[in-house]
Amino acid sequence: MMDRCTDHAPEDVPEALDRTLRDLQLDYIDLYLIHWPIRMKKGSVGFKAENIVPSDIPNTWKAMEALNKSGKARAIGVSNFSTKKLGELLEYARVTPAVNQSECHPAWRQDKLKAFCKSKGVHFSGYSPLGSPAWLEGDFLNHPVINMIAKKLGKTPAQVALRWGLQMGHSVLPKSSNPARIKENFDIFDWSIPEDMLDKFFEIQQERLLKASFFHEPNGGYLPEDELWDGGI
Ligand code: A2P
Repeated sequence: MMDRCTDHAPEDVPEALDRTLRDLQLDYIDLYLIHWPIRMKKGSVGFKAENIVPSDIPNTWKAMEALNKSGKARAIGVSNFSTKKLGELLEYARVTPAVNQSECHPAWRQDKLKAFCKSKGVHFSGYSPLGSPAWLEGDFLNHPVINMIAKKLGKTPAQVALRWGLQMGHSVLPKSSNPARIKENFDIFDWSIPEDMLDKFFEIQQERLLKASFFHEPNGGYLPEDELWDGGI
């Protein structure tokens, strides 16, 4: 992932990947993503509105395509792209993004964005599948629906949330630094949530957790909020 969004200039893109390859002591990576459709001033630190500079995704993507061609990035993709921004990219892309990684969990289903990705052959990957409780304070793991299903199936609420993601057809990217929970989070492949229980998930109120307000502060370069998420879909 082009982590800090400071290397979007076409000449900086290959340098950023080379740096990452050196750090990882690898010759290539399997997947390289544009982290945000937002460009920050080269060398700036932190996602602060005053560091935002106008983005030029077509030329950043072209540089990503060159990395793909060189074999240093076996696949390339994007993250936090709305249907509108992904649609625009697909109009000029010569390599279709392999992945769009975006927030997705039972309390932010992203049905429209996912349907769009599917129709275009872009794999959808969900971050914060557990609501990133320590960071974004998502608390749907305490939701009665998830707890009722967990109890009925003899699973944990986290496993139910992750398994729901798989059954919705996307991949899930849970994070844990706890070995027992890492194991728990993997244990979701040999059982499933019955169809009638899947309907219950529609009762869960929807709200994006990562509003990314740091990108649209009053003095920011990315106003209004709609310009980042394009109406939320
Ligand atoms: P920890 O590292 O102590 O396990 P997300 O993947 O949505 O960003 O959420 C990551 C957060 O959820 C981390 O704070 C992590 O804490 C916690 N977490 C990871 N796995 C589980 C689990 N199975 N049950 C409860 N909390 C979990």
